[in-house]
Amino acid sequence: MDFDRLQHASYIREMYKKDDKMGKKREIGLIVARSENNVIGKGGRLPWDIEGELSQFKELTMGNAVVMGRRTYEEIGHPLPGRKTIVVSGGDRYQEDGICTVRSVEKAIDAAAGVNVYFAGGYGIYKAALPLVDVMYITEIHIVVEDGDAFFPEFDAGDFDVTIGETCGDEIKYTRTVYRRKKLF
Ligand SMILES: NC(=O)c1ccc[n+]([C@@H]2O[C@H](COP(=O)([O-])OP(=O)(O)OC[C@H]3O[C@@H](n4cnc5c(N)ncnc54)[C@H](OP(=O)(O)O)[C@@H]3O)[C@@H](O)[C@H]2O)c1
Repeated sequence: MDFDRLQHASYIREMYKKDDKMGKKREIGLIVARSENNVIGKGGRLPWDIEGELSQFKELTMGNAVVMGRRTYEEIGHPLPGRKTIVVSGGDRYQEDGICTVRSVEKAIDAAAGVNVYFAGGYGIYKAALPLVDVMYITEIHIVVEDGDAFFPEFDAGDFDVTIGETCGDEIKYTRTVYRRKKLF
């Protein structure tokens, strides 16, 4: 990415973070769990079932907005309680209490209107959101998944400061990590 595009992406991120009502900054982030070989999904589902692994997702997103692709939403099957659920799709699908559908990740940030925004997959959502996020909560699942069909996109780890958190889990271990974007300007 050349300098002008980097500067433009940085400007857009700062604009999005402004909370219209309070003037305070909000967090624009993504949350993902990925295997050692970068798999996030298999057959339309999570390739693991690890007790307690989703606790961080709930803590971060409660009271905020969660943005997901249409397939991920259909896997969950209902709006997330206590959160604004925003589905990204090329079609007009869900518009009711607690849920709306938008056409792009940028429109999702607008629709979140002042609360923190967390992109929650799958691949197309992560790919489009990556240049916009300040922080990535990546849970590294310590397994290799064969025949995965959804992956976390490639990104430049050099753009982020990485904090490695605790490792948990019994049969399957997982490690919490936080990638916070380095300030460029
Ligand atoms: N490990 C994790 O943390 C994690 C998190 C989330 C999901 N997953 C897994 O990932 C898999 C699902 O992910 P997926 O990549 O197959 O599907 P997905 O991203 O959930 O949904 C794909 C659909 O979302 C819409 N979409 C995606 N990106 C878009 C964009 N940039 N602009 C406009 N619309 C966009 C399109 O909907 P339309 O077709 O309606 O236009 C597209 O067909 C499942 O296996 C799920 O379990 C894992």
